[in-house]
Amino acid sequence: MKRQRPIPICGDYLCQMLKTTLLKAVQAGAAQLKHFFNGKFTISNKEGINNLVTEADYAAEKAIIEVIKNDFPDHFILSEETGEIPSESEYKWIIDPIDGTVNFANGIPICAVSIGLEKDGDMIMGAVYNPIMEEFYFAQQGLGAFLNDKKIKVSTNTALTKSCLVTGFPYVYLDAPNGPLEVFEKLIRKGIPVRRLGSAAIDLCWVAAGRFDGFYEHKLQAWDSAAGFLIVEEAGGKVTDFEGNHYSPHQPHIIATNGKIHDDLVKMVNGGTV
Ligand code: IPD
Ligand code: CA
Ligand code: CA
Repeated sequence: MKRQRPIPICGDYLCQMLKTTLLKAVQAGAAQLKHFFNGKFTISNKEGINNLVTEADYAAEKAIIEVIKNDFPDHFILSEETGEIPSESEYKWIIDPIDGTVNFANGIPICAVSIGLEKDGDMIMGAVYNPIMEEFYFAQQGLGAFLNDKKIKVSTNTALTKSCLVTGFPYVYLDAPNGPLEVFEKLIRKGIPVRRLGSAAIDLCWVAAGRFDGFYEHKLQAWDSAAGFLIVEEAGGKVTDFEGNHYSPHQPHIIATNGKIHDDLVKMVNGGTV
């Protein structure tokens, strides 16, 4: 693994400690992904068809929660496989131990640990780590977004029709009005390339890194986007719900772009055209 960027000055000691814990937790989870990737592990099915959870998801989640509980035993935790570990704390750790589990289970190296940290409902730090591709994304509110040692920026493309987009499809909800398949078809019929990687956290990071101009998805869970949306914002992008309002990972729909194609993508996702 490449050496991580040194921890920048955060302004206060607590902030520094939070960041250290976040990095340790993401690395502890990622070590489990590396251990199990392409090896032997048990796979079971959650609600829906092919909504998988593997032994690696549980092992990564356990390792992550251990790190956080050890450093901040009274913090609130929301984690995909465990659910809520509630507390009165203003700090909430939002964890996806493996985002891209179907990829992981098939040996496809597009999968990551994703952890976002909220303070009083505001996302203050986020990290997404794909240990297979050795890509570590980190953002802190007001301090920018980074891929490994380098600061990242969203793309500069201004035309939706010239954009390269990415999306994902939920396990259910496909037939809602202006649902995932309809929006996808409309964009494809316009000749706009729309990729599907299978990891919302990585989709967001790749928007932040300027590889994609935009991402949209219906029906995400808080842990899918908690870290990634801050990484896009800190890379200079824009993230909203489907109405174009300020984004919260605690509601289901997301549009994340370089900012320049945002209004046009909001239109298309809502049944309009450009
Ligand atoms: C999934 C991925 C995928 C998205 C699904 C999510 P999981 O998360 O982020 O890209 O389309 O909606 O559930 O199940 O791999 O953690
Ligand atoms: Ca996920
Ligand atoms: Ca997951």
